[in-house]
Amino acid sequence: MKLDLTPDELLSTTRAVRKRLDLTRPVEREVLEECLQLAQQAPTGGYQQNWHFVVVQDADKRAALAELWKQVAYPYLQRGGGAREGMMLRISEAVVHMAEHLHEVPVHVIPCVEGRFEGKPNFMVASMYASIIPAAWSFMLAARSRGLGGVWTTFHLVHEQEAAEILGIPYDDVTQVALIPVAYTLGTDFKPGKRKPLDSMVHWDHW
Ligand SMILES: Cc1cc2nc3c(=O)[nH]c(=O)nc-3n(C[C@H](O)[C@H](O)[C@H](O)COP(=O)(O)O)c2cc1C
Repeated sequence: MKLDLTPDELLSTTRAVRKRLDLTRPVEREVLEECLQLAQQAPTGGYQQNWHFVVVQDADKRAALAELWKQVAYPYLQRGGGAREGMMLRISEAVVHMAEHLHEVPVHVIPCVEGRFEGKPNFMVASMYASIIPAAWSFMLAARSRGLGGVWTTFHLVHEQEAAEILGIPYDDVTQVALIPVAYTLGTDFKPGKRKPLDSMVHWDHW
């Protein structure tokens, strides 16, 4: 199924989806492959194809990853402390919901890139991360255009080494950059997010 979205609609409505994921509907492998093939068209910093996507459908592995995620998500939410209002309250509720249901989300996608960047100069770190993140975002856009949704998450990276063991990823040689839960969305209508005025963040010719 392809949604009837213009490019601008696709770019403005590919949202962080946590509560509106259909946990009961399987995601076909062919659809994931289409999205990954589109992701392969993204640019890399000359290290073309040092990318890897670990696509996790196995229920036990998803449960183990969800445990790692929760171990970070709950303390993170508590540290926020105090009264939560408006958008922050909505986001924390959504994160709690995700923590409780992550193991049920039918697919976890973990984009990875070859190399480890601890202690490396910014030039190298920026080039390596930017060699996989555009591809991973293309994957999310392609997924959205097919009625799928998800959310970019990094919580599990606090326990990256344990995740590597669960999935057989060679930790010393390969860096995980995110865990993206993927499912069909409940409904396909999403609104653009609220953003700060452009002039508060754009600098023309001078900071
Ligand atoms: C680098 C990065 C890391 C993120 N890590 C997490 C995470 O660990 N857990 C989570 O629930 N959301 C995570 N998010 C999602 C954000 O909290 C936020 O909801 C999202 O980027 C904004 O979505 P929206 O523009 O659709 O409102 C992350 C997003 C980014 C870009």
